[in-house]
Amino acid sequence: MVQIFLDTASLSEIEEFVKWGVADGVTTNQKIFLSEGGVDFKQRILDICDLVHGPISVETTKSTVSDLLAEGREYASWHKNVVVKVAMYGDGRGLQVVNQLSKMGIRTNMTVMMTYNQLILAAKAGASYVSLFYNRSKEAGENPLQIIRDYVATAKESGLASRLIVGSIRTPEDVSVSMAAGAHILTVPTKILRQMPSNKRSEETIAEFDKAWQDFLAIKK
Ligand code: E4P
Repeated sequence: MVQIFLDTASLSEIEEFVKWGVADGVTTNQKIFLSEGGVDFKQRILDICDLVHGPISVETTKSTVSDLLAEGREYASWHKNVVVKVAMYGDGRGLQVVNQLSKMGIRTNMTVMMTYNQLILAAKAGASYVSLFYNRSKEAGENPLQIIRDYVATAKESGLASRLIVGSIRTPEDVSVSMAAGAHILTVPTKILRQMPSNKRSEETIAEFDKAWQDFLAIKK
């Protein structure tokens, strides 16, 4: 069953979509927190953990392997549902951090990935989740839909356990094509999620049925 994570740190937005019954988890990053203004970082993560009883991705921000490991262990200690996000650095330090955290039993989400090779390395390093940035991958000249298909096929054939999250979503169509390509999880900004139930023909049909019902009620018995 495909899962939807909310790509936000806004409590009001999370509360809104939890009511829809569609929120399986949450992903956050430094840019998302910048848009939240001067909130208390740890308290906001804990508040999110209270709202969504699923994986809550919290991104590491340090630079060295030792600092990233310490930061990841700290975040993981905050709540059982915290998943530690580690970026795919070109020098492999992120892979080293993910590999060590996974050996400690800490769930990780390897992130900021644009290519098939990056996803495979992250999965082999032991990442619980591997995040493909759909639109940024496209901007990098890649074919993210083919990458999704290839990763899902390779993971199935090779028994890779890492679940593929597709992020960097900018339209409802990005969601549907990624899901259709086999993505395990879509992490969707709330402004996109809010558009997804809407369809002009659905609204027209609802109005047509409403009128028919009023006409039915008006028939003199
Ligand atoms: C999710 O985990 C990513 O951090 C997020 O979807 C990135 O989106 P952007 O490419 O719009 O910054």
